[in-house]
Amino acid sequence: MNRYDGVKVLLTGAASGIGRATASRLTGEGAAVYGVDLSAAGLAETAAAIGGPGTFASHVADVTDEPAVIAAVRDAAAALGGIDVLVNVAGIHKTTPLGALTVDDLMRLFQVNLVGTALFCREAAPHLPDGTGAIVNVASLSAVQGNPYMSAYSASKGAVLSFSLSLAAELSQRRVRVLSVSPGSTDTPLTRSPDMFPEGVDPTYFGRLAAPFGAARPDQIAAVIAYAGSSDAAYQTGVDLRVDGGSNM
Ligand SMILES: NC(=O)c1ccc[n+]([C@@H]2O[C@H](COP(=O)([O-])OP(=O)(O)OC[C@H]3O[C@@H](n4cnc5c(N)ncnc54)[C@H](O)[C@@H]3O)[C@@H](O)[C@H]2O)c1
Repeated sequence: MNRYDGVKVLLTGAASGIGRATASRLTGEGAAVYGVDLSAAGLAETAAAIGGPGTFASHVADVTDEPAVIAAVRDAAAALGGIDVLVNVAGIHKTTPLGALTVDDLMRLFQVNLVGTALFCREAAPHLPDGTGAIVNVASLSAVQGNPYMSAYSASKGAVLSFSLSLAAELSQRRVRVLSVSPGSTDTPLTRSPDMFPEGVDPTYFGRLAAPFGAARPDQIAAVIAYAGSSDAAYQTGVDLRVDGGSNM
């Protein structure tokens, strides 16, 4: 299946987890992927893991740094010769029990998860071709499902959902599609990080999040992101695609 032959993709969060799996999946389908991330080392690992037939180029940038985002999108468009699809995967998580919630944590979660996504959408949208362009924003099942100790993270992802929905309405005039993809718990460095289990958090709480199918593999999320950005989803916009292993049955 080479749905992405000749398709130019700008992808954030490409240095790890779901982003790396997405780079792999899209290049495997023929895409030219321009991967942006904070981590130069992680981007190099992603580049080494790419098997083609597509191509992968790396760009180090912080998605919360407005001038850096403007430069990243400009450089992506120049390097790729345009941008057909934007995929926003970069994101952070922090488990924040209410009593320990800080303004810094709230601001940082919203800076990376919402502001970073919004800036890339703003800068990339003018490049996307009318009629075929697409944006895929990674939100989270937490945006629509109550999860203990995740109120701040969940709110930032709820914001990504709402942002994507209204952006879909705005860009529908150009027939540029905007979808969000909401993964359930996925086995990546993010879910293995100490930020998931700060002091005072009941370590069994993950049990309450378990999906009937267990945790997802990153490639299972990447497969749905690839679908959402492809012409197979040409008649879908303004919807959220949940990839949750049966969490909502
Ligand atoms: N893993 C899960 O269970 C899960 C579930 C639902 C949603 N998500 C979302 O999926 C996305 C990817 O998560 P993952 O599990 O692959 O995590 P990950 O930590 O493996 O990857 C996240 C990537 O984002 C990058 N990043 C973080 N802050 C950045 C910044 N300011 N600028 C540029 N890059 C930055 C990191 O360097 C990293 O490469 C995130 O948006 C996350 O919220 C993950």
